[in-house]
Amino acid sequence: MKTTTLATVILAALIAAPAAQAYEKGDWVVRGGLTTVAPDDETSTIIAGGADLGVDLSVDNDTQLGLNIAYFITDNINIELLAATPFTHDVSFGVSDPLGTGDKLGEVTHLPPTLTVNYYFNDPAAVFQPYIGAGLNYTFIFDEEFTSANGDAGLTDLELDNSFGVSAQIGADYMLNNDWHINASVRWIDIDTEATFNVGEAQGSVNDIQIDPWVYTISVGYTF
Ligand code: NI
Repeated sequence: MKTTTLATVILAALIAAPAAQAYEKGDWVVRGGLTTVAPDDETSTIIAGGADLGVDLSVDNDTQLGLNIAYFITDNINIELLAATPFTHDVSFGVSDPLGTGDKLGEVTHLPPTLTVNYYFNDPAAVFQPYIGAGLNYTFIFDEEFTSANGDAGLTDLELDNSFGVSAQIGADYMLNNDWHINASVRWIDIDTEATFNVGEAQGSVNDIQIDPWVYTISVGYTF
């Protein structure tokens, strides 16, 4: 009896609930959640003092607070800015410990703000709202440093150039009601950089480092 009553109440609530509404021109969307940057482990050869050291680099993943604001310029198209707290990645040798200083070479920190235009397929009755987008990224790279063991071994003055490139994404909103939704997206960003550093008295460099990460975001969003 009790179960039947509860089921009746839930059913009544579902029938009474307004259908989740698709977006409209003029809507603002704000989202907060977790963003993971997973660099492509495409290898890059280290050139030091003009000589190819025959050593590759790898860059590990990092997860930070992801923030996202979007504005619908039509019922189907929004312009979205991805922001986040800074990502810090360990940079390691692609092979084990070539300098005898431990596998970790150093760390880099970056901020990858990305401006994206998204297209929503926008079936008005759907609670599931998928979209595709393309955009531009500028990645600020800072706080580049070698580990102290590598510093002691003569590696100093690490610097990586900032990067400007394109990005692409797919994502979806799952509408909880007219105001709130859950969002998930996967994006690819073309982040390329060059590193310079000193090895004792010699200049070293790594040209054409392709970081090109996959960026995964899961967040909660609110529509104004
Ligand atoms: Ni690239």
